[in-house]
Amino acid sequence: MSVSIRQIHPVFVGEVSGIDIARPLAPDEVAAIEAGMDRYAVLVFRDRRLTDERQMAFSRNFGPLEDARGGNITRPEDRRLEVGMNDVSNLDKTGRPMDRASRQRLFNLGNMLWHSDSSFRAIPAKYSLLSARIVNPIGGNTEYADMRAAYDALDAGTKALIEDLVCEHSLMYSRGSLGMLDYSEEERAMFRPVRQRLVRTHPVTGRRSLYLSSHAGAIVGVPTPEARILLRDLTEHATQRMFVYVHAWRPRDLVMWDNRQTMHRVRRYDESHPRDMRRTTVAGDAPTAAPVEAA
Ligand SMILES: [Fe+2]
Repeated sequence: MSVSIRQIHPVFVGEVSGIDIARPLAPDEVAAIEAGMDRYAVLVFRDRRLTDERQMAFSRNFGPLEDARGGNITRPEDRRLEVGMNDVSNLDKTGRPMDRASRQRLFNLGNMLWHSDSSFRAIPAKYSLLSARIVNPIGGNTEYADMRAAYDALDAGTKALIEDLVCEHSLMYSRGSLGMLDYSEEERAMFRPVRQRLVRTHPVTGRRSLYLSSHAGAIVGVPTPEARILLRDLTEHATQRMFVYVHAWRPRDLVMWDNRQTMHRVRRYDESHPRDMRRTTVAGDAPTAAPVEAA
């Protein structure tokens, strides 16, 4: 049986069939999925029973996994999952829903803001793969926005205005917008802003896209309030319903997305019940902008 992909949204997103991702893949199967990612930016695999081991092995077909350090405030001794797995559940290491006041929980609420994974890293992520192990009974949909379609729909004046702009991204900007403003010196150093172009060009297809994220809090050379108004305005444009796919999770779904071409967010859910979602992240291979010069 060969890989087939059916588009399930007017502008992007494909649902994949004809492939068993719990086994080692043949090179032509990997190539078919990569081509699907280039075209659809988000791929949905239904009813796949994956262990952490198999999810990591499947993910490595598309490049090395990202080193997750520096992406969260969770201490190593509080981790629930092994290295290589990003825990985006609401569970503590004993498997119970986190307390309401848990700093880890409050930090993770930032995933409910529109973002692109790891845009706060100097070399941001390529793909993310999210597997639903326990689905919450109420809410918890993940929404994806096609940043290529959003870019294409901008007027010529706006395209010219933003063409060469470079933003600064930090977890402190996204969390700061939720009122989380207290960080240790060590965290401040870890969350130091990085630079990202506002307009990206896909390395394979050559399509341009808006590279937005709630982690973006400044634009180089632009006064901060003006920069933030522009970023809000672009985000509002890019997340109009016509550019957004809503994924209602079923147990054993795997969704993979290209962070270079999309944004996403999770919606609120009933946090008294578990939501066990496990992410692997395929590392990117290059920065999008020249780094901040050393002082
Ligand atoms: Fe995310």
